[in-house]
Amino acid sequence: MTAALSGSARRLRSLATRLTTPLLPDDYLTLINPLWSARELRGRIVSVTPEAEDAATIVVEPGWGWEFEHAAGQYIGIGVQIDGRFVWRSYSLTTPPSRDGHRLVITVRAMPDGFASQHLVNGVTPGTVVRLAPPAGEFVLPDPLPAKALFLSAGSGITPIMAMLRSLDRRPDATDGADLVVVHSAPDADRALFADELDLLGRRHPSWRVVVRHTRTEGHLLFPREGNPRAGRAPESSPRGTLEELVPDWRDRQTWACGPGGMLDEAEKAWADAGVADALHLERFAASFSAGAEGGTITFARSGRTVEADGATTVLQAGEQAGIPMPFGCRMGICHTCVAPLSSGGVRDLRDGSEHRVADTDQSTRTVQTCVTAAAGDCTVDL
Ligand SMILES: Cc1cc2nc3c(=O)[nH]c(=O)nc-3n(C[C@H](O)[C@H](O)[C@H](O)COP(=O)(O)OP(=O)(O)OC[C@H]3O[C@@H](n4cnc5c(N)ncnc54)[C@H](O)[C@@H]3O)c2cc1C
Ligand code: FES
Repeated sequence: MTAALSGSARRLRSLATRLTTPLLPDDYLTLINPLWSARELRGRIVSVTPEAEDAATIVVEPGWGWEFEHAAGQYIGIGVQIDGRFVWRSYSLTTPPSRDGHRLVITVRAMPDGFASQHLVNGVTPGTVVRLAPPAGEFVLPDPLPAKALFLSAGSGITPIMAMLRSLDRRPDATDGADLVVVHSAPDADRALFADELDLLGRRHPSWRVVVRHTRTEGHLLFPREGNPRAGRAPESSPRGTLEELVPDWRDRQTWACGPGGMLDEAEKAWADAGVADALHLERFAASFSAGAEGGTITFARSGRTVEADGATTVLQAGEQAGIPMPFGCRMGICHTCVAPLSSGGVRDLRDGSEHRVADTDQSTRTVQTCVTAAAGDCTVDL
């Protein structure tokens, strides 16, 4: 995790540990207040408010030790108890730091069959205590803003961009005639997150252009393709269907994009083809796993636990299912927070199928990213 506990929080924790040792300080602290823990960061859900169809905005009041400032666009980890075990997921904060005081605000879309998101949207109630991981992520805005900016989102990908727009709403360099374009796609009006607020922002700032598209009637946004002569033209039936038509100067804009993997893949290709790949800043919500692994028995050496895992279950998920406190950040192979030493056997990277193996004769260990690898036969991880 990128942020660190403040000095005062560390001192309080250390005092609690000294006063209560040899018994665990948490046993005492949690009795007094469930949000006090010397071992982990906790928060309490304050409200769960329906937000468009299948989504909810969840406000969390963080407990003892939460001294982190976040930047608009960053995400936090939330561990929620489902069927007796904690399940961790990442969610973008949707408000800038000072907007809601010390509260954390996320908006979750319930994915069909989604294990944690269904629970967060349709299961949790105010008062529920959750575990928290500090803010992280590089999907943030520069200061000062570039002369021209484009925000491109679809579905729940609007969440980090909403935090950015809410922070820009009050930044003098963004409100004083800044040339901003926002293009957000949602299936229809019922499923469009923050539609009213986006509309309001567009009307409040004359130099911002805010376009909300409905893909059921207008189709998915089309990106220019190299060598495609029709790339710049919208089909007559869908005049707001192409990026070229909607934002003719997209190549000149620094762009922040978040949405489904397919949309981001297309954007990456279009920006690369146009020779402006550096101007595109992406946030992905899920790694794309195209490979499978053999599966096997994973031994977590320091925790003394052993888990049978199939080839689709990452080492991180397997450890969490066994109740091991696994380090993680993005959960998708970017931040390297989850790396752990592999001391025997092998794992396979689910993104490209590459194998990472420690030879039997090897005296040393090698490190692996637990969030994107699965067991390739039996293996031992030093966690
Ligand atoms: C940095 C970051 C920020 C995020 N911010 C938000 C946010 O603000 N709001 C929000 O609703 N979600 C956000 N997510 C996604 C979120 O972390 C979960 O992945 C999502 O809620 C699904 O979890 P689940 O347990 O319900 O699904 P699971 O039960 O884990 O998965 C169900 C099925 O959906 C697939 N799947 C899981 N996640 C995705 C995805 N994002 N896109 C496509 N397929 C997927 C799985 O492969 C599986 O097939 C973010 C993810 C990351 C990495
Ligand atoms: S958690 Fe970020 S790379 Fe694994």
